[in-house]
Amino acid sequence: MKYLNSYFTFATAIALFFSFQPSSADSHENFVRCLYNYPHITNTISNVVYTQTNSSYSSLLDHTIEIRRFSNSSSKPLVIVTPLDVSQIQATIICSQRHGLQIRTRSGGHDYEGLSYVAQVPFVLLDLLNLREITVDEESRTAWVQSGATLGELYYSISQKSKTLGFPAGSCASVGIGGHFSGGGYGFMMRKYGLAADNVIDAHIIDVNGNLLDRQAMGEDLFWAIRGGGGASFGIIVAWKVKLVPVPSTVTVFNVSRTLEENATEIIQKWQLVAHKLDERIMIKVDITRVNSSQHGKLTIQARFMSLFLGGVEDLIPLMQNSLPELGLDRNDCKETSWIGSVVFYNALLIGSSGNEPPESMLNKTQIRFGNYKGKSDYVKKPIPIEGLRGLWRLLCDAKVEYAILQLAPYGGIMNEISESEIAFSHRSQYIFHIHYWVTWQEEGDGIAQRHMNFIRREYKYMEPYVSNSPRAAYINYRDLDIGVNNNGYTSYTQASIWGLKYFNNNFKRLARVKTKVDPENFFRNEQSIPILSMEEY
Ligand SMILES: Cc1cc2nc3c(=O)[nH]c(=O)nc-3n(C[C@H](O)[C@H](O)[C@H](O)COP(=O)(O)OP(=O)(O)OC[C@H]3O[C@@H](n4cnc5c(N)ncnc54)[C@H](O)[C@@H]3O)c2cc1C
Ligand SMILES: *[C@@H]1O[C@H](CO)[C@@H](O)[C@H](O)[C@H]1NC(C)=O
Ligand SMILES: *[C@@H]1O[C@H](CO)[C@@H](O)[C@H](O)[C@H]1NC(C)=O
Ligand SMILES: *[C@@H]1O[C@H](CO)[C@@H](O)[C@H](O)[C@H]1NC(C)=O
Ligand SMILES: *[C@@H]1O[C@H](CO)[C@@H](O)[C@H](O)[C@H]1NC(C)=O
Ligand SMILES: *[C@@H]1O[C@H](CO)[C@@H](O)[C@H](O)[C@H]1NC(C)=O
Ligand SMILES: *[C@@H]1O[C@H](CO)[C@@H](O)[C@H](O)[C@H]1NC(C)=O
Repeated sequence: MKYLNSYFTFATAIALFFSFQPSSADSHENFVRCLYNYPHITNTISNVVYTQTNSSYSSLLDHTIEIRRFSNSSSKPLVIVTPLDVSQIQATIICSQRHGLQIRTRSGGHDYEGLSYVAQVPFVLLDLLNLREITVDEESRTAWVQSGATLGELYYSISQKSKTLGFPAGSCASVGIGGHFSGGGYGFMMRKYGLAADNVIDAHIIDVNGNLLDRQAMGEDLFWAIRGGGGASFGIIVAWKVKLVPVPSTVTVFNVSRTLEENATEIIQKWQLVAHKLDERIMIKVDITRVNSSQHGKLTIQARFMSLFLGGVEDLIPLMQNSLPELGLDRNDCKETSWIGSVVFYNALLIGSSGNEPPESMLNKTQIRFGNYKGKSDYVKKPIPIEGLRGLWRLLCDAKVEYAILQLAPYGGIMNEISESEIAFSHRSQYIFHIHYWVTWQEEGDGIAQRHMNFIRREYKYMEPYVSNSPRAAYINYRDLDIGVNNNGYTSYTQASIWGLKYFNNNFKRLARVKTKVDPENFFRNEQSIPILSMEEY
C-alpha cells in the first residue's frame, strides 16, 4: 500500500521531535496539543480529534457500540481520534505515551466485553472507521483490506470482481476486520479453508515506537502472533493482505428447524458423530433455542440446522441422505445461489431479514443492535451424551431470560490438518465442535442484567463435564472476562495463564515472548492483554 514508503524515516523523526518537547503534566489538553504540533502529519489532524465537549463526540462514540450495556459506561475516552492515515496513528501512539494515556483501538466495535472502547483508566479511543479501503486483485487472487472495513464490505468487494472467489470469515456483515482477523475469524467455509487468520499473507502494523511494519519488517514471530493472538496487545494493525479462495459459481444453502417432537435430540446426537467428519465442502451449524411448540403450545427446544454446501443441490441431497438421514432434508428446503447470495442469506439468519436482499445490503452501515448481550464459548472433544443434552433442554426451558441460544459449529476438515502452532489460534484437531452461548435482553431495570448473567454462568457451569478441560478452551473473539482478568494488563504470566491457556493453549507462552519483545513496557494493554514475561519466565 502507498503509505509504506514512510516508515524507514519515522524513528528518526520521533527522536528529533522528543528532544524539543518539554515534559509536561499529564492531561488530555496536552495530548491534543502534542497531536496538533506533531511533525510529518499528512492530513490536517485537527479534523479528526474529538474531545468530550465536541457535539459529535457522543454519536461518534456510540456509532459502533454493539452491546448496549457498555454504551452507558462512565469510563469513556477523553479523546477520540479517527485517523485518515498512518501518520495520524503514529502521532496518537507517541503523544499518548508522552502524556500518560492508554489507547483502545476500535475497528468494528463488536468486542463482547467492550474492550475496544471502554477502559477504567484515562485513554484515547483510536477509531479506525475512516480506514476501510479494500483492493481486490482477482488475477493474483489476493486482496488488501484495511482494519476499519467490515466483513460485509470485504465480501461485497470480492463479489464485484469475481463470481468464483470468496473469503472464509464470519457470517455477520457488520463485524470489523481488525478484531475479527486478529482473533481468528470463522464462518461457513472454515472446514474447507480454515479461518480468516489462516488466509492472511501479509499485514501492516504500527508498533509502540510508531514504526509501520510489513510482514518482512515485523518478522515471523509478530506476524504469527497477530493471527489469532488478538491485535490489541501488539500494536495497531492497519491493513491485511489476504488470499482469496475459489468458490463454485453455484452453492447451496439450507435452514431447517426441528423441535424435540420432531426428533431434534436424535438428530443432534447423530450430528455430533458425523458433522466434523463430513466432506469438507459442507458445514452444518446448529442453533439451539427454546420456542413455544406449535403442537402443544408449551415450551420446547428447537434446533435449527443451517448449512453452506460448496456445490449444487444434486450433490448435496445424496450426501445428506448418506450421512444425516435423520434430518430428512428435502430438496425444497434447499436454495441454490451464488457465494455472495449465501453470505446475504447467513447474515439474514442473524439479523432476522428475509435473505433475499441484494448484495449491496452487505454495505448497510445501520447495524442491527442486539441490545444487551453476554456471550461465552466452549470446545467439545467427544459427543455430549443424551442425559447431558436432556439436562440442558431442561435448563433452557426453565431459564428466566428473554432469549438464550447455543450455537454449535463443527470442526474437522482442514482444521484437522493445520497444526496447533501454525498461527497463534490453537484450537484445531483436538476438538469436534465449538459451542457459542449467548443471552440477550432488551428490558432495563434492577436485577435484569444480573439475572441474565447468572443464567449464562449457570449454563456454563452445567456444561463443564461435557466440554474440554485442562484447559477448558475458549475463543478469544467471544471474549469473556468471567474466565479471568488482568489488573489492567499488569498481571504475572502465571496469573494470566488462568485465562491465557484457555484461549491459546500451548501458544500462550510464545505469545508472551513476542509481547515481551515488541512491547516491553506493556503500553498496549487491557483486561485480557498478553502479559510481559519476567527474566526467569522468558
Ligand atoms: C453479532 C456478532 C456476530 C459475530 N459473528 C462471528 C462469526 O461468525 N465468526 C467469528 O469468528 N466471530 C464472530 N463474532 C465475534 C467477532 O469476531 C469479534 O467480536 C471480533 O473481535 C470483532 O471485531 P471488531 O473489529 O468488530 O471488534 P472491536 O471491538 O473493534 O475489536 C475487538 C478487539 O480487537 C482489538 N482491535 C480491533 N481492531 C484492531 C486493530 N486494527 N489493531 C489492533 N487491535 C485491534 C480491539 O482493541 C479489541 O480488543 C461476532 C460478534 C458479534 C457481535
Ligand atoms: C468536533 O470535532 C471535529 C473534528 O475535530 C471538528 O471538525 C468540529 O468542528 C468539532 N465540533 C465542535 C462543535 O467543536
Ligand atoms: C444508564 O445510566 C443511567 C443513569 O446513570 C441509568 O439510570 C440507567 O439505568 C443506565 N442504563 C443501563 C442500561 O445500564
Ligand atoms: C422421528 O423418528 C421416528 C423414529 O425414528 C420416526 O418414525 C419419525 O417419523 C420421526 N419424526 C419426524 C417428525 O421426523
Ligand atoms: C411462548 O408463549 C408465551 C405466551 O403466549 C409468550 O409469553 C412467550 O414469550 C413465548 N415464548 C417463546 C420462547 O416464544
Ligand atoms: C430460517 O428458519 C427459521 C425457522 O424455521 C425461519 O423463521 C427463518 O425465516 C428462516 N430464515 C431464512 C433466511 O430463510
Ligand atoms: C439497513 O439495515 C437496517 C437494520 O437492519 C434496516 O432497517 C434498513 O432498512 C437497511 N437499509 C438498507 C438500505 O438496506
